[in-house]
Amino acid sequence: MYNMKPEVFNFNSVKGISQRQLNEHYKLYVGYVNILNQIWNTDYTPQNYTDSNPTYSKMRSLKLGETYALNGVKLHNLYFKNMTGGNTTPHGPVLNSIINQFSSYDNFLSYLTNVGLSMRGWAILSIDSLDNKFHIIGSDLHDKGSVWISYPILVMDVYEHAYFMDFGTNKKEYISTFIKNINWTVVNKRFQKYLHLLQILNINHNRYIPYEFLNRHI
Ligand SMILES: [Fe+2]
Repeated sequence: MYNMKPEVFNFNSVKGISQRQLNEHYKLYVGYVNILNQIWNTDYTPQNYTDSNPTYSKMRSLKLGETYALNGVKLHNLYFKNMTGGNTTPHGPVLNSIINQFSSYDNFLSYLTNVGLSMRGWAILSIDSLDNKFHIIGSDLHDKGSVWISYPILVMDVYEHAYFMDFGTNKKEYISTFIKNINWTVVNKRFQKYLHLLQILNINHNRYIPYEFLNRHI
């Protein structure tokens, strides 16, 4: 029986985004957790799924709802976690690697901002298992544009629900405010966990070996 609870975040640490905006956003996240519990508590009974087809069917509704809710839960967990708690001074190995790969921190921020402005759902700094390098992934919906076996380091919600109450159509101002709230301790921990995983798998992250990450799992 699934009875997952939403994580709790310290919104008091967030500067420039109102508590009302954050609390309303949090309610959406709680809704995804509740729906995911409901979906994962649905037993599979063959006689309930006799009309399966890719246009409209009970199974199709269930599967579309599952990926939407599941990604909605994971991405909001990561987003709220990496924008709360303070520690907002860029630092550490992740910053060094960002500068190394994107030429400069300002260049990275410009790229992230433009991805955020261009997407309707998410902008995610992720390390892909194909090349073990950073990629800024853009997504329009929780379940659209998602990349498998890609490791999210920094997650930015750019759905209108994330900012419209405070910023109206000024999405750029929201993105800039979000960036000022990034918790670099959290981001560094994620990065170090990924490096640790590579170490365990004995993979040199400076080498480009396609699918090595995947192959080592087999
Ligand atoms: Fe959201």
